[in-house]
Formats: sequence, C-alpha cells, structure tokens
Amino acid sequence: MMRPKVLISQKIFDEAMAMVKKDFEVEENQTDTPLPANVLKQKLQGKVGAIILLTDQIDDNVLSQCPDLKIICNVAVGYNNIDIEACTRRRIMVTNTPGVLDDTTADFTWALLLATTRRVVEADQYLRSLKWKRWGLMDFLGYDVHHKALGICGLGRVGQGVARRAKGFDMQILYTDISRVAYSIEEDLRARFVDKKTLLAKSDFVTLHVPLLPETTHYISTAEFSWMKPTSILINASRGPVVDEKALVQALKERKIAGAGLDVYEKEPEIEPDLIRMKNVVLAPHIASASYETRLRMTMMASENLVAGLTGKRPPNLVNPEVFQ
Ligand code: DGY
Repeated sequence: MMRPKVLISQKIFDEAMAMVKKDFEVEENQTDTPLPANVLKQKLQGKVGAIILLTDQIDDNVLSQCPDLKIICNVAVGYNNIDIEACTRRRIMVTNTPGVLDDTTADFTWALLLATTRRVVEADQYLRSLKWKRWGLMDFLGYDVHHKALGICGLGRVGQGVARRAKGFDMQILYTDISRVAYSIEEDLRARFVDKKTLLAKSDFVTLHVPLLPETTHYISTAEFSWMKPTSILINASRGPVVDEKALVQALKERKIAGAGLDVYEKEPEIEPDLIRMKNVVLAPHIASASYETRLRMTMMASENLVAGLTGKRPPNLVNPEVFQ
C-alpha cells in the first residue's frame, strides 16, 4: 500500500527521521542548505506534511500548489518564517517547539552577556595571536556583572530563565512586557516591572526576549539607544529585526552604549559589516538553542507533532488551533 508522503526540508537527527519513516514515505534533503523557494514549492506538491527549519520560508506562493498538505512542523519555537494566516486559510496546521529550548537559550544569553562584558573573545584572540608578554594591571578591563541592574524586555519563559540565573549574581532585576507577570513570579525572581524607557535608562545590561511581531520590529532603535546608559551592554538572542541594526552600529560608534552581544541579525546570515570590525561586540551565528540535547529534543518534538497531526490527533504544539477539528 502507498504510504502518505512527507517532506523533510533539511538535515535532521536520525532518531527524529526514524520516527517519521515508520509511517510515512519521506522525501528528504539530507543537507543543511535550505531549498530555493521554487524547489521547496515543487517538493511540497503531493505531500501531506513537512518538517522544516527556520531558514525555510513558507508563504502563500509556496503553498499554492499543494492541496494535500495538512501540516507544517517548524523545528523552532519562533515561526516568523511561516505565513500563519495563509496556512490557516488553506487549513494547514502549523506547529512549533516551545518549552524545550528555554533553559538552553537562557544559558546562552548569559554566555553572551559575560563574554561581552568581560571581553572574553577579544582576550582569546589576543592570546592566540601570541601578543601576550606579561600580566598587566590595565589589561582587558571590562565591567562587573554582579550587583548591577539587569533589564529584561519580555519576561516569558526564556526571560524568566535569564532572571533566575541573575539571582546568583545578586543583580537588581527590572523587566518590561505587554503586561505584568503574576505577583508570585515577580516575588520569586525579585523582578520589578517598569516601563520600557525606565528599564533602558536604569539598566546596566539590557537583554531582549520578545517575539518578533510587527509591534516589536525595531523595538530597539535610535530613540531607545539614546535612553540607555553609555556603559550599558545590549544582548539579543531573540530575533534579529527586534533591533534596528543600523541604529545599533551608530549607537556603538557614538558610544551611546558600551557593547553588544548578538546571536541574531536582521537579515541572517548577513551582518552589518561594521559590527564585524567592532571589538566591543560579540557575535554568534544564531546558536542560542544549539546544545545536543535541546536541538535533538526540538527535532523529536517536530516529528511527534507531524505524526500526531497526520494520524488524526491534535498535535501537541499547534500554533493555529482553529484548523484542527
Ligand atoms: C527558535 O527556536 O525560534 C530559535 O531561534 C532557534 O532555536
């Protein structure tokens, strides 16, 4: 008997692939290079489901020739690469991978914060270029992290993970969000709700954990940089377009802020060229969730969502529940 066909758009873990192969005929792209839009569109034809990565763009045009498609499973918590409205209109379920990457992303946020503030990357490069001749009192002075003010924009699951870790550094925690979290959470994290301007003006470190939405695009831009302390450090491990990258370059050049630790960029994999030359900036290639354990769990979740959705069950991480009936 012919088994229903699914597409796996890029290389995933073998365990996750095996789960899908039990019940479905899989067409796979066993590389880590995204398929061009026209190829993706053509390969989705005749498929009932797909597992995709955040570098695959799913828009109305890509979906236009696949009437059989019932589910798209993103291996990411964010799904700004998918036109949800178009999927819902075409009655295609969309799933994501929330929860499993929160602690891993919070860990990495801290890695960026510490690396930027204590100049770890710059010092490493100095040593590797064999420039170190003796211990120096004034060498690689950074800023203290402990007992400083940490401003968290978006106190969701990742933001809370970052705040929990900050307790060990005896930090004062400020946060801003579209609404306040429960009092018990505020109390547990010792986090004080303030408006965005106050947070930016009072924080020594500002870390961004908001989803990418029209209203959070360029959430940090020229005006916001002008409110920040000249000694402050900006950390972004959310989505690139949350920060106006050109305004960031300008702010760094004009010393409106002291540095930045970035995992995400406006037009990945492109980066503002000036950022690459700046020593007070630590750059990572969108790896905040990249631990073996978490990336495997994310991929397994996508496979579980796919199998559930195609066997009549409600996928555990359905983004557009109105499609499920
Ligand atoms: C996500 O899941 O949205 C991250 O950006 C990649 O893990």
